[in-house]
Amino acid sequence: MRSLIVGTGSYAPERVVTNKEMEKLVATTDEWIVERTGIRERHYAADNEATSDMALKASQKALKMAGVRPEDVDLIVVGTITPDMPFPSAAAMLQCHLHNKKAFAFDVSAACAGSLYALSVADRYIATGVCRAALVVGAEVLTRVTDWSDRNTCILFGDGAGAMVLVPTPDPNRGLLSTHLHTDGSMWQMLNMPGGGSRQPVSQKVVDENLATIKMQGREVYKVAVRALEEVSREALAANGLQPKDVTWVIAHQANKRILDSTLDRLGIPAEKCWMNLEKYGNTSSASVPTTLDEANRAGWFKPGDLILMMAIGGGMAWGSALVRW
Ligand code: UT7
Repeated sequence: MRSLIVGTGSYAPERVVTNKEMEKLVATTDEWIVERTGIRERHYAADNEATSDMALKASQKALKMAGVRPEDVDLIVVGTITPDMPFPSAAAMLQCHLHNKKAFAFDVSAACAGSLYALSVADRYIATGVCRAALVVGAEVLTRVTDWSDRNTCILFGDGAGAMVLVPTPDPNRGLLSTHLHTDGSMWQMLNMPGGGSRQPVSQKVVDENLATIKMQGREVYKVAVRALEEVSREALAANGLQPKDVTWVIAHQANKRILDSTLDRLGIPAEKCWMNLEKYGNTSSASVPTTLDEANRAGWFKPGDLILMMAIGGGMAWGSALVRW
């Protein structure tokens, strides 16, 4: 059986922060941010809003669209690097909010590729008949782990959540055709949060040196991203006997407009086929792909039979692609 995406949902917190506001925080300009990234504004979670709260709002919308009752979900997988607390998982908290008792629930940690990793895992449970209704979520409150003194990173990130509902379909012509995932742990230093884990647990030093925040070698990540996204997209298409020209729509992790433009250019896919929303949300890590999918879906982009190519890359480095016949 293939997995069919029958519901999508997303949520962005209320507070909008513009590039002009970032100018007050660090030595940057609206022009630099727009030119180098494409970002114009981002949404920040309220102080009392945690990852599972946002995940709940996105999930409720996706479940409503799918016509699946929260209590009937039998698998919840959340891609996140900012769970409410180190444990239990954000997925367990989400299950609690949904008043669901049936599902087994867990998080997947693959940074910005988290929702594609989560999708891939959930797909296996659906395909093997173990689960009949899976909730796949990407949700992050990156502003809790942002270094507000680092202009290289703080201008990039935003908070949000996106969700998808998967069910099995007997239709051989529709659904999730494949997922391809890759990790290269030797590149862990390019993008990470060094403090707050078991190597450097919370301590005065971690606080004083701001180590429980995202550190990124932007230029290096950029180069790896363009190459990896092109390769993993070609891999997905080749595995299904398809070519870039067969792609109807691209749903990609929204990290940097220039990364996506270069990747699409290398693939020979017109930029108009790629739904862009990073000007509104910035980089929301694992929330990015499901949020983008939901926006394009609700805008009426997808028709039955359309071929959708999804791609994402993030810390690990971890990256992946998914091909969906809508
Ligand atoms: O989501 C997971 C994956 N993450 C990504 O895909 C992010 C990948 N990387 C990027 O998107 C880009 O590398 C950035 C947007 C982070 C940076 O853009 P860049 O074109 O690679 O800039 P750069 O790091 O090469 O820096 C160019 C200059 C530097 O100044 P000097 O050394 O040339 O004098 C930076 O200090 O721009 C400076 N700079 C800034 N200037 C104004 C860096 N950040 C800023 C800033 N405002 N916010």
